[in-house]
Amino acid sequence: MKQIGLLGCGAIGTQIALAIDTGKIPAILTHIYDDSKEKSSSLVEKLQNKPEIVENAHLLSSNSVDIVVEAASQDAVKDSALSILQNKKDLMIMSVGALLDESIYDILSDACKDFKKTIYLPSGAIAGLDGIKSIKDELDTVSITTTKHPRSLKSAKFFENSKINLDDIESATSIFEGTAKEAVSLFPANINVAALLSLTGIGSEKTRVKIIADPDTNKNTHQIEAAGTFGKMTFIIENFPDVNNPKTSRLAILSAIETLKKYCSNDIQIGT
Ligand SMILES: NC(=O)c1ccc[n+]([C@@H]2O[C@H](COP(=O)([O-])OP(=O)(O)OC[C@H]3O[C@@H](n4cnc5c(N)ncnc54)[C@H](O)[C@@H]3O)[C@@H](O)[C@H]2O)c1
Repeated sequence: MKQIGLLGCGAIGTQIALAIDTGKIPAILTHIYDDSKEKSSSLVEKLQNKPEIVENAHLLSSNSVDIVVEAASQDAVKDSALSILQNKKDLMIMSVGALLDESIYDILSDACKDFKKTIYLPSGAIAGLDGIKSIKDELDTVSITTTKHPRSLKSAKFFENSKINLDDIESATSIFEGTAKEAVSLFPANINVAALLSLTGIGSEKTRVKIIADPDTNKNTHQIEAAGTFGKMTFIIENFPDVNNPKTSRLAILSAIETLKKYCSNDIQIGT
């Protein structure tokens, strides 16, 4: 069975750990790390098969794991991803926004080749990346409109230099329009889907993003439109937020679990 190290024990990390512990993912969770000792200890308490809590993120990949699963933050990717590959471990990244920094993307992509290891990016809170991947060379325009409750957008960097006060919003209001690159840097914890979409398609400068704050919604909704010489695709994904973290959609957690299940299983694999 594959051995897994977990970096980040919050909403996503906890659900991944529980999926391993209950046998849904055929693997062993051997080592975990979170900047917050409280988070890692509370996760261990929930598990039947107790992993070891290591003292820092780098110790995850110096142990005998096959893959490190990052479910922490963009900073965690910047600090640890390269050393994980150098330690010859595969890596699954949830904080995908970190890869829109081209120098980081190039360094990690080269390291995958040099150390013959793979980085997995689950489809996260959206669907349709299989289609976009297939037609990427025939793609002219891609856009994503994300609608969330104001509470799911709270504490984003964007509001440091904005006059918009989320508490004053009384009906659906467009608060941001720009490129995926701008969106990911201003809403680092909220719009990883825009990063995924641009990495799959035509890049972060050309992928357009619109963010709507809607106090009347209880969902995180993404509408993706892609057009080009291949034809046109439209996807609408209406996600319920996770109960423990309203910034994270339930689908993002399930897609992480599915990606890891695929990595750990020898079976027929469906989908592009
Ligand atoms: N790819 C996607 O579609 C998608 C969807 C939702 C969330 N995300 C991203 O996945 C990550 C995890 O999401 P979550 O909902 O579990 O968040 P969360 O806030 O519930 O949990 C994150 C955990 O990571 C820990 N952490 C943060 N930075 C760390 C670091 N540098 N080193 C070690 N631990 C660190 C925190 O203490 C926290 O316990 C976030 O970056 C989030 O933006 C991606």
